Amino acid sequence: MLLATLFGCARATQLGAPQPDAPPVAERCAGALAANLSNEAGSLVARCGAIEVHATPLADGVIELRYAATGVAAPASWAVIAAPADPTATIGGTGVCTAALAVTIDAQCEVHATLADGTPIVDDAQPFDGAGTLVRTARTDRVYGLGERTGGLDRRGRTWTFWNTDAYDPAFGGWHPGQDPMYQAIPLELHAGAGGAFGLFTDEPRRMTIDLGGALDTTTATTTSLAQYVIAGPTLADVVRRYTALTGAPAMPPRWAFGFHQSRWGYADAATLLAIADRFRSEGIPADALWLDIQAQNGFRSFTFDETHFPATLIGQLAAKGFHVVTIEDPGIKVEAGYGVYDSGSAGGHFLSYQGTAWPGTAVWPDVSRAATRAWWGQQVGTVADRGVAGIWLDVNEPTTFPEGGGGTTLPDDVAVDGDGAPTTMAALHNAYGLLEARATFDALAARGTRPFVLSRAGYAGIQRYAAVWTGDVPSTWDGLDQTLPMLLGLGMSGVPFVGSDIGGYSGNATPELYARWLALGSISPFARAHVTNGVPGQEPWMFGDDVTAAARARLGDRYHLMPYLYSLGAEAVRTGAPILRPLVWEFPDDPMVADLGDEAMLGPFVLAAPITKQGATSRHVYLPAGRWFELHSGRIFDGPTTTEASISTAALPLYVRAGAILPTTDSVEIYPGAEASSFTLYEDDGAQLAGGARTTIAVEPTADGATVTFDHDSAVAARTLTVRVHRVDGTVTGIDGAQSFHYDPDDRSLAATAADAAHLVLGFHYDPEIADPDPPVPVTFEIHVPADTSQATPIAIVTSTDMWTAQTPLAWVSAGVARGTVTLPRGEWFEYKVTRGSWLTVEKLASCAEVANRSRFAAAGSQVDTVATWRDRCGN
Ligand code: GLC
Repeated sequence: MLLATLFGCARATQLGAPQPDAPPVAERCAGALAANLSNEAGSLVARCGAIEVHATPLADGVIELRYAATGVAAPASWAVIAAPADPTATIGGTGVCTAALAVTIDAQCEVHATLADGTPIVDDAQPFDGAGTLVRTARTDRVYGLGERTGGLDRRGRTWTFWNTDAYDPAFGGWHPGQDPMYQAIPLELHAGAGGAFGLFTDEPRRMTIDLGGALDTTTATTTSLAQYVIAGPTLADVVRRYTALTGAPAMPPRWAFGFHQSRWGYADAATLLAIADRFRSEGIPADALWLDIQAQNGFRSFTFDETHFPATLIGQLAAKGFHVVTIEDPGIKVEAGYGVYDSGSAGGHFLSYQGTAWPGTAVWPDVSRAATRAWWGQQVGTVADRGVAGIWLDVNEPTTFPEGGGGTTLPDDVAVDGDGAPTTMAALHNAYGLLEARATFDALAARGTRPFVLSRAGYAGIQRYAAVWTGDVPSTWDGLDQTLPMLLGLGMSGVPFVGSDIGGYSGNATPELYARWLALGSISPFARAHVTNGVPGQEPWMFGDDVTAAARARLGDRYHLMPYLYSLGAEAVRTGAPILRPLVWEFPDDPMVADLGDEAMLGPFVLAAPITKQGATSRHVYLPAGRWFELHSGRIFDGPTTTEASISTAALPLYVRAGAILPTTDSVEIYPGAEASSFTLYEDDGAQLAGGARTTIAVEPTADGATVTFDHDSAVAARTLTVRVHRVDGTVTGIDGAQSFHYDPDDRSLAATAADAAHLVLGFHYDPEIADPDPPVPVTFEIHVPADTSQATPIAIVTSTDMWTAQTPLAWVSAGVARGTVTLPRGEWFEYKVTRGSWLTVEKLASCAEVANRSRFAAAGSQVDTVATWRDRCGN
């Protein structure tokens, strides 16, 4: 459907003016080659005085362009791992033509690229200058991608720098608003307009700028050979799929890494970590990993431990409590005879000939562009893995030299590097340093037979093959939070699906409100880790009070409940490069309202999230694109396109499910039938295996009297009972085919069936699909435990904010000290409530005699159990 829409619009494109009189594209590649052109081993080569341009057709809708000073050979790429030729391409006339793209090169050696239908996408405005500058006619399209960036999703309107930088600004305790460049350099431009999308990937790890601010798009690096890949669409998903085929499939993290991670710089010792592990369990907040920052090393020496405070037994003790441990490893190795890592690195000639300052003092950096050095680094990683450490956190690998200060201090450009046997300098390696360090780390862990988990601060195109990425030192400010979602979305669109931010912000002292909002965003972030700097309070959820602790329990509870969906999205990212957390424009490319919408996101194809990032917000606008939407917890229906005003509490995270959704959860498969058929691929494995895994296609087909749900497995089926729940069944249920049992919940308006799993399982749900009221009120049951000596002659009542606290709705006594009753409330809204003995004079109090804060609850089917400690009149006022 989307494809058809995009193709259908391709003639009225914004990508370039239509050229109705131009010859059919294939004719441009027919006949004898023009005088300045030749066909050299399947590449079209153009020569014009001091420059030459090569255009090489690659399989599946990609053409590689290489602009060079005459005779300069192409350097090897650290990003591109697969560039198979397109055997069906034709070279002739003035160009090279493939099924998806055509490139012509004119007599001045200027390149022009079109889509197969003739839509112009690339027009050089000047010939290559032989020194690294490409000048193109700018189009009126939008440009997404470019990796990790501040600002909105659309990158037009300014110049962006590609130079991996420790973006820390001491004045902000992290990167400042509008910071450029950041830690990562991913030169992937995703151009999109009404005619569809195409990509330009400029494979250059040197310092580079891309100016998208004016009538010309100018790319500048200091190099005599510049490679760029033109990547066909027509959808953003097609471009990113082709880009990740070139630069490598994302690595699937182990399952535990999809859980919640708790970190800080400065956990004092093993006892502190064990107590935190216990607290997660006693609070009922799910979590899978605890992190050791540099304080756990011996004097900031990488690959060492402070054995006094963090003995080797700690890892096993935490494992017994269900926690994995991740340790930080920095590339700056302390210069110190007797330190094993330094000694073996020196003996093997693994360090660059430069000494600078890093956390441990005077330090040297390994030459990760040398295969033997990567192997040596991998041996160091092995020593940590041998201890039981489950994942490796690669920091300051821009690489950074100290002092920090926002200046991007790094190794000098002229330091010689091996370049995998093609000697060059740091100037050419800089942006790829973190990528190669991550590669060495990943390869060493993968060789141990299970899926590695690596987190990297710096990276280049291809980093997705090895590592998850976090957005570095984001300040604990509202601006920092507000910038985080579009930054995650931009990274995701740039081929890096496993991304997250320091929940609570890095600089610390987050307010409870800021932390609760950040945690809600974290709960839908592909990588979810709370982290904070040294010398400030920790950012564990319970540090922010009972309300925030309860909010963390609810939000992370939802994340864990949706884990099979989240995990399957991870597997989809591996197959197609599609981001796990994606902007709305990814799913709704022809809706102009979402073209630059960066404060909402889609978690996979089906769940729309609207995180709250504004201080003091009591509600927020949520834009819902065309189609039917169901509020996740209540089933309340919205018909888009529409803007709704979502109510908010501390625990709020507005979440909406798209019609057609199939959401596998830990205990059920939740189905929201739409007007059209839909499907989803469930991915399951043992959580750590390197390859394999089972895929199940779950398909939903609407029928005249309900819906049919089908499961098809691609491998052996384990004996298990499936629960499948169909949402918004308001009309009469007439039966279910293929199920063992079924249950209709009239409050939730859902119909659940259980069935034994089978290789091919078909469940037919039969009900009247008519929805008379999209938004019917919902009965919420309250069970209130009151002081045991409360006389059963007294009325117990609930008062709520939904009617401005006016009605006292009585509950019924069920036993001594327990009253129960049902209050009908507006479905899908947060409300607040208190318990009384029939009037405000008898409202509940805390044992201290302070009046309790309003309790808050989301109006969805289900019951609420609460305890009243003391009545107001018992406190004497
Ligand atoms: C860097 C990292 C931060 C870490 C600190 C100490 O600032 O970005 O996450 O806590 O170094 O290792």
